[in-house]
Amino acid sequence: MKEIFEAVGKAAFRIQEALSYDDTGYADNKNATGDVQLKLDIKSDYIVEEELSRIPTVKALASEEKDQVDLVNESGRYIIGYDPLDGSSLADVNLSVGSIFGIYEGDLNGPSLKAAIYVVYGPRIELVSAYRDRVELWRLDRNGKFSFVQTLSLKERGKLLAPGGTQKHWYPHHKTMVDALFQEGYRLRYSGGMVPDLHQILIKGGGLFAYPGTSDKPEGKLRLVFEVLPFAFVYEMAGGEAIDDRGRRLMEYTVAGHHDTCPCFFGSREEIGAVKRAYGI
Ligand code: AHG
Repeated sequence: MKEIFEAVGKAAFRIQEALSYDDTGYADNKNATGDVQLKLDIKSDYIVEEELSRIPTVKALASEEKDQVDLVNESGRYIIGYDPLDGSSLADVNLSVGSIFGIYEGDLNGPSLKAAIYVVYGPRIELVSAYRDRVELWRLDRNGKFSFVQTLSLKERGKLLAPGGTQKHWYPHHKTMVDALFQEGYRLRYSGGMVPDLHQILIKGGGLFAYPGTSDKPEGKLRLVFEVLPFAFVYEMAGGEAIDDRGRRLMEYTVAGHHDTCPCFFGSREEIGAVKRAYGI
């Protein structure tokens, strides 16, 4: 596992260089789910593949940018599900973006997750790892290495609310819940990048991030293997909760297709309680 963490650190260092200096324009390609790809998406995917495929314990790579799962080392142990540059459409406006990694053993289902890592490319480059009951914050230092900063945990209740999805298509009970939370005093914090948005809630100690099912997208937008399950793993390990719109723990999900999406709620215990009451679950 240590070599995987180190390889993710090396990939993150190279991706932040690309973000700093490369063109933020579109490429001619579309990815596996039909999104038009940025040149940065393609380069980040290439960097991650190059760094992770040389680690002998990595058996296969499942990228958000690709249709297929690629076998890289027959005798390896882990399958890495990753989004090399999440929120890449924010790069041209110079907002924070991220990379997300789920380290699975055996298959790409929730219970098979052994560790999760995400990287935030902001004014500083930070990496959060969740492994063996510890969620740790690391920061890129002057020498190009990640230095340990502190462990992270969520409080019982926070102050921030990140409500995703197109409001016009929210179901009435979802809108009622969001309105009620704002009336209680929650502050809006939503950038459109799940990595910085969830990172902010985690660092500030609590709150709610919601990307619900909507009338136009009943299964939500965020992808289980590359985005939802790694963050569910981090949030649960930090003492929070991560559920779908039926109250099911996201970590219990088995995945039919590795590009599947699902409605998702991540937060501290009190805010997830509010979701359960609003959804009657
Ligand atoms: P993408 O990687 O296509 O830019 O999508 C980003 C994801 C996620 O990071 C974020 O929370 C969500 O899309 C934002 O979606 P909305 O624009 O619908 O709010």
